[in-house]
Amino acid sequence: MREKILNILLDKNKEFVSGEEISERLGITRSAVWKHIKNIKQQGYEIESVTKKGYKIVKCPDLLTTEIVKYNLNTNLLGKEVIYCDTIGSTNDYAKEIAKNAKEGTIIISEEQTKGRGRMGRYWHSIKGDGIWMSIILKPNIYPHEAPFITQIAGASIVSGLKKLGVNSLIKWPNDIIINNKKVSGILTELGAEIDRINYIVVGMGMNVKTIDFPENVKELATSIKKEGHNLKRIDILKSIIEEFEHLYLKYIQDKDKSECIKICRENSAVIGKNIYILKGEEKRKAKCVDITEEGNLVIINNNIKEELISGEVSIRGDKDYV
Ligand code: BTN
Repeated sequence: MREKILNILLDKNKEFVSGEEISERLGITRSAVWKHIKNIKQQGYEIESVTKKGYKIVKCPDLLTTEIVKYNLNTNLLGKEVIYCDTIGSTNDYAKEIAKNAKEGTIIISEEQTKGRGRMGRYWHSIKGDGIWMSIILKPNIYPHEAPFITQIAGASIVSGLKKLGVNSLIKWPNDIIINNKKVSGILTELGAEIDRINYIVVGMGMNVKTIDFPENVKELATSIKKEGHNLKRIDILKSIIEEFEHLYLKYIQDKDKSECIKICRENSAVIGKNIYILKGEEKRKAKCVDITEEGNLVIINNNIKEELISGEVSIRGDKDYV
């Protein structure tokens, strides 16, 4: 009911809506309407109430709550279920805990993570309200070895979601998004599978949106949307990415069409044409990146020999810089 009332108020877009209209439309008493409004206000919404005119939203809180995320979200699969947390260990850990019984497309979002995880067991800083920390639960009917492609979809959807809002970024294959040579976003794709079938995939995405001061150990490597001069709302970025993700994901799953995703990955690659180091465990070797295949693998040349790298197996570093 609370969500319905909020939607009515948001639909009116800063105009007054009377308590009577809300109570008639939802079949509840005016005092029940008032109680829900009080509750909505407690969540941080500024709502003006004027006798004989009714209620209007003056300001929405800068939170990624279920209602705000679902409001006008243009998707058919992703975000039909949104789990919102004020704080959590890791959205990926929670997603994996509930994945078995969760609907495909369920999204877990938290304002803060106390045990945010990056790839290779690294820690992921996830300060309250500073960024987007979310995980999506997917249940695609694909083979486990095809799962790395989901990371490409995530990367492509971040880049094109940001582009729609006027922000240019690049993909440092396979799972880092960078602006001006610094990392703004990272993807952590995890799999629950048997030998020949996937039970679920959890795609975790972290994006630094408002962070200005980074911890000493990542200061030189990390940036945020705000630090790069863009004053965007987290909610707009989040929705843009989710909508792009669904578009590319359904193309892949329903039509077996990877082409649009690969085109985005190639056109916005931070590594094609560059010399890089390939890191695999303790091993480190130099190569030149030449392409990304139709499957999403990175093509490198080393001593005149062409080779394909599968994401998930390796990490890469630039020969001089981070990229
Ligand atoms: C990386 O760049 O190494 C991947 C970072 C992924 C961070 C996100 S934040 C939401 C989700 N929950 C986590 O614990 N990690 C991912």
